[in-house]
Amino acid sequence: MEAKTPSHAPSPVGCPARLEDVDLFAPGAQEYWYEAYDILHEQAPVHRIPGEGFEPGTDAFILSKHEDIARVVRDEQRYPVIGSLFLQQLLATGEPPYDQPGVGAITASMASLRPNPKLWRAHRQELTDPWVGPGAGRNEPMIKQVAHQLIDRWIDRGRVEFVSEFAQPMPQMVMANILGWPLSDLKLLKRFGDGTVKPFVYGRKHNNLLDQQEITEQQGVLEEFKQYTASLIQEKRRRPQEDMISFLTEVEYSPLERKLTDLEINGIVYAMVIGGLETTQYALAEEVQLLIERESVWDAIRSDRGKMRAFIEEGMRLRSPTQGLSTRITSRDEVFQGVKVAKGSYLHLRWAAANIDPDEWRCPQELQLDRKAGTRHLVFSQGPRVCPGAQLSRIEQLVAWNALCDRVKGFSYGEGNRFLHQPGIMLGTLELHLEFEAA
Ligand code: HEM
Repeated sequence: MEAKTPSHAPSPVGCPARLEDVDLFAPGAQEYWYEAYDILHEQAPVHRIPGEGFEPGTDAFILSKHEDIARVVRDEQRYPVIGSLFLQQLLATGEPPYDQPGVGAITASMASLRPNPKLWRAHRQELTDPWVGPGAGRNEPMIKQVAHQLIDRWIDRGRVEFVSEFAQPMPQMVMANILGWPLSDLKLLKRFGDGTVKPFVYGRKHNNLLDQQEITEQQGVLEEFKQYTASLIQEKRRRPQEDMISFLTEVEYSPLERKLTDLEINGIVYAMVIGGLETTQYALAEEVQLLIERESVWDAIRSDRGKMRAFIEEGMRLRSPTQGLSTRITSRDEVFQGVKVAKGSYLHLRWAAANIDPDEWRCPQELQLDRKAGTRHLVFSQGPRVCPGAQLSRIEQLVAWNALCDRVKGFSYGEGNRFLHQPGIMLGTLELHLEFEAA
């Protein structure tokens, strides 16, 4: 079967001028998302997509206000996560999740390791926090080495394609090193990572739908991923090393008073790969553009590294890597901003719009290094399901920008940039040709 080539063509509609023009999911709409957010904030902060709800006869709603999205993500009972509902259905069958056809390692591991909010917390605290959460600082020397190794490859050239030569390989190499994935198989990690995020890049409508051919292609890649990871886990069991997979083969998970099975570990690796590669890539690629367009900010962070943290928070706030997700529904009738939302409706949480909501942020489009409480953005969500890899991503960005500030006097745009983004729900700049003077 021939793989489909997705279209990156700009939208035939062009830049939206009126609410009727706004369709965040139309082909090419990604080039005008921020223009669309201004219209949504002014005219339809709770924007109905008729007939696309979760339960039959309901609608989907795009939420773009910070207060609404924060309310939703903090209350898991009232606004359930769709993945958890499917999990409950699976568990209700009474069949062992591993034996169900079509159930991937991640679902199987969610079913046994974190079937409820209490275990969700334990899973995070005991299994992922030590590597990508609060314990992610242990990776800092390795991340620094990766950043400099990549810069070494192009520093004498005076120009770089920033996406493929820095922003993309950096999180891939970091995640490979954390997991204990052989660097010689980095291409496979990318292939599997692309497979996991396929719906978010090439899916259609607000809930990232793939057609049957695309689903079949994706399942093939994910099966390969599962097999590869299964052998890697076996290898780590035989010869444990200082890495996350080896740790997972040895750790005792306290709520279950036992060690993890291979399939459970496989599911955790899947979660790290789906979350940990592209998101940080997009953050780095957007941040370099913000810096090129704001010379004073580059000068400020270069001369005072204490401002770096504020820069990355503002960078992610202004250009959120994950722009929106349809992961929650309403469990009862609700009202948002005076708009009635029936039970069983889909909520599309548009994090990126909330992060420039003029009711939440003063001069929302300005990059302010002295912004008060800048981390209240929703880049990583909030509440019980907040991104478990946020700390790792922050460290990667801090290390990357410190290394780049050390080694480059300043970046500028080179020839051949079209500034196009991939489709879907992530803000992914496709390529960035830059010129620079080495420091
Ligand atoms: C700039 C980088 C990143 C952004 C913008 C980002 C954003 C997000 C968002 C918005 C969510 C959804 C939370 C919710 O539904 O309430 C999420 C979940 C998640 N993220 Fe991240 N993330 C980033 C980096 C990472 C990294 C580095 C990892 C792994 C090391 C990771 C792993 C995950 C996982 C596993 C989930 C699902 C958690 C769950 O099962 O509930 N993310 N992330």
